[in-house]
Amino acid sequence: MSATIKLEKKHFPVLLDELISIISPLYSGTFIDCTFGQGGYSKKILSHKENKIIALDRDSKTIKEATKLKKKFKSRFFFENVTFSEIDKIKVRKENIKGIIFDLGYSTSQINDPSKGISFKNKGRLNMRMGINNFSAHEVVNLMDFENLSKIFYYFGEEVKSKAIAKKILLERNKKEIYTEDLVKIINDVKKFDKKKIHKATKVFQSLRIVVNQEITQLIYGLINGFKILPKGGIMAVVTFHSLEDRIVKYFFKNYSETKNTSRYLPEKKFEKKLFKIINKKPIIPSFNEINVNPSSRSAKLRCVEKINDANNFESFIKKFEYLTEIENLANNL
Ligand SMILES: C[S@@+](CC[C@H](N)C(=O)[O-])C[C@H]1O[C@@H](n2cnc3c(N)ncnc32)[C@H](O)[C@@H]1O
Repeated sequence: MSATIKLEKKHFPVLLDELISIISPLYSGTFIDCTFGQGGYSKKILSHKENKIIALDRDSKTIKEATKLKKKFKSRFFFENVTFSEIDKIKVRKENIKGIIFDLGYSTSQINDPSKGISFKNKGRLNMRMGINNFSAHEVVNLMDFENLSKIFYYFGEEVKSKAIAKKILLERNKKEIYTEDLVKIINDVKKFDKKKIHKATKVFQSLRIVVNQEITQLIYGLINGFKILPKGGIMAVVTFHSLEDRIVKYFFKNYSETKNTSRYLPEKKFEKKLFKIINKKPIIPSFNEINVNPSSRSAKLRCVEKINDANNFESFIKKFEYLTEIENLANNL
């Protein structure tokens, strides 16, 4: 899922006005849109004539929309089909970077694209690759062992029936390859007494999407490497859609906007300087109006900081979430 709304095929960026009101005082410079999608944020920022955009997206299907923007804004729009964890490798020499923006998750067109196999409403081979991936959900579900599968469902989906679902997958795998509809059936069988409102498959599908796209590793290194290329005074803004993502962003911003080291078990010295000034103490969430029009925007959260100092040691941040990046890495050895 994503911090976006789904109306037919069109993609509506969530919290756009709120984001613009935060970054507009810095207009007349370059903004990096790390998650171009269908260009909702980029277009709005480009509507101010003094702004430039460097846009990134891992999904090669976004190149089509990016090419249209390139034709219209030749000298003000640049696009690269890369993952945002590589943000420090893009060419930004002499750019006056004012802000780095992440709108995490999936665009409407990705969710509606049956070839991406993201939704449990689809049938056929499991996929879930956004673009630039090493493996698909098909390999994870059909090759991974019981212990690692249950870890993925538990840690990335907070699925309480993680073990029972993993056990049933392994049983069914002895008979046939597991496709999307088989996985949904397995989950429905295991959770037949679950009376929660959300679809029974939501959590397992979320966990598979996270692993396939290495979303935790991407986010951690996107934030760190984004920080490295952002000059002092620049803004970093992140829209998250689920609690795991938000926890990571909140920790990064909060931890480095204080002068103390929050963990006494870590060897790292106390931070001498604060790296950020927090712009909004509480995350900005969609208005009642926005949620009314688009109920699926209700989990979106926008957090923003201003960079006030340089640093090159993010050891405590990396360590804090190592237990998650290690689980993501399990799938790299399939
Ligand atoms: C929610 S959509 C962004 C929508 C965009 N703000 C708009 O207004 O159209 C997220 C986009 O980010 C891309 N994306 C997700 N993770 C990424 C990553 N690690 N690196 C680069 N792009 C990523 C997805 O492919 C998707 O197109």
